[in-house]
Amino acid sequence: MEEEVLQVNVNLRIAHSPEQKAFIECTALRQVIRAGRRFGKTVAFSIKAVKAFLGICPKCDGTGCDYCDLGKVTPKRVLYAAPTAEQVSKFWFEVCTALKDCIDAGVLRKDETEKIIERPGTEQRIKAKTAWNANTLRGDYADLLGFEEYQLMNEDAWDEVGQPMLLDNNGTAVFIYTPPSLKSEGVSKARDPRHATKLYQKAKQKEEDGDKNWKTFHFTSYHNPTLSTEALGMLSEDMSLEAFRREILAEDDEIQLSWLVYNAFKDICKVKRFEIPSNWPVITGHDFGSANPAALVVAQAKLPLPEGAPAGLRYGDYVGFREYSPGAGFSSLQHIEKFRDMTKGYGVEQSIGGNITNEGEIRQLYGAHGWPISAPILTRVNAQIDRVIGLMEMNKFYIMDDMFRVLGQIASCMWILDSENKSTNKIKDEPKYHMLACLRTMVTYFNVDRPFLKQGVDKVKVSIW
Ligand SMILES: Nc1ncnc2c1ncn2[C@@H]1O[C@H](COP(=O)(O)OP(=O)(O)OP(=O)(O)O)[C@@H](O)[C@H]1O
Ligand SMILES: [Mg+2]
Repeated sequence: MEEEVLQVNVNLRIAHSPEQKAFIECTALRQVIRAGRRFGKTVAFSIKAVKAFLGICPKCDGTGCDYCDLGKVTPKRVLYAAPTAEQVSKFWFEVCTALKDCIDAGVLRKDETEKIIERPGTEQRIKAKTAWNANTLRGDYADLLGFEEYQLMNEDAWDEVGQPMLLDNNGTAVFIYTPPSLKSEGVSKARDPRHATKLYQKAKQKEEDGDKNWKTFHFTSYHNPTLSTEALGMLSEDMSLEAFRREILAEDDEIQLSWLVYNAFKDICKVKRFEIPSNWPVITGHDFGSANPAALVVAQAKLPLPEGAPAGLRYGDYVGFREYSPGAGFSSLQHIEKFRDMTKGYGVEQSIGGNITNEGEIRQLYGAHGWPISAPILTRVNAQIDRVIGLMEMNKFYIMDDMFRVLGQIASCMWILDSENKSTNKIKDEPKYHMLACLRTMVTYFNVDRPFLKQGVDKVKVSIW
């Protein structure tokens, strides 16, 4: 008898970025994704799960490719395990939304209590459960198994239950995690708090050795284009540099803070956005380069402080309030238009950027178009960096907490280490830190001998008789 062909509507979300798409389409038997908070890990796995459950080809979305049979693959039985009920609810909501029409039409059956959606009369199903170790995971079987927040689970969930479960049917395991920060340590059920990191490293090694069964992914929170800068700002509120590295950048190499060039930057200097008063003098820093031009806009504080300003801010302190990194393909005139937009309503006292020796021509070009830029006063990069560190040590440099490019670079720029893991005075991949180049060139103008603010008082007109 010919099998009945059934047409159903599925509401599948489209990947929000090439990064998320690559993960959704991956078919390796062991996949490890390390990504920042709110990257879209749970949504991505829910898309994977729905496709696998319905037998839609993960690579071509059903249109047909050399991986599938006219868009179809063998439907799978999916088990999703997360250590917190919150994550389970999020996943459950996503799969129920995707499959709503099929459930309403009675093609699929949903059990809300057990969190199961199944195709009656078959082995096909999606089940979501709260699990954090072998005992809580036991009792189910699947051929696509997803571990969410894997860093918080006990290792025995995989060793004792997950792995044997997949052996019979050559199933797929997906490990999802965000590097743990001190904040999350309390709730972890892991024996070794770094077990997920170790698994990632093992997978990466296998991948590099050409083993097609293993695939790793590493994404930061800001690879998610659906998140607004406000949302990202709220997410990283009160995060230390260390937590920011782990939970937003998803970096989990065990580093010592002393390896970070800008470890002097303190948490209290990352502040909630407030309106910079129009009478605060503004300075802009620039980094040229056709692929990754960048600019940073900084204001210098005056008293009285406006509403919303951090209490610790003092007269003369600096506040980074706009960052600019448009990518390649813009002319200097287009950049200048943006610089004008970003500084609209403010008095720009000076613009600084580039290096002294060979970027004079570019500066001249900007000058000719009406945006004069001066060369930094100090030539040596390390001397410029010393100035920045000095400001940071004195808590004189503040940044709005939604400025992810600058913050991300501060949290990842490292010294090259010597054979004993001690910091040298050379910076690893220095040319890629374009925002920091803006910062270090502009601070050469910030010093006691050349204050931007005229010391003392502003000239004011008063009538005395
Ligand atoms: N493909 C997509 N299309 C539209 N929005 C998406 C997509 N993927 C994720 N999002 C949105 O991005 C936000 C974060 O997604 P998600 O909850 O999957 O992230 P996460 O990495 O699991 O976060 P957490 O670290 O909090 O668990 C949500 O608001 C979600 O709706
Ligand atoms: Mg999640």
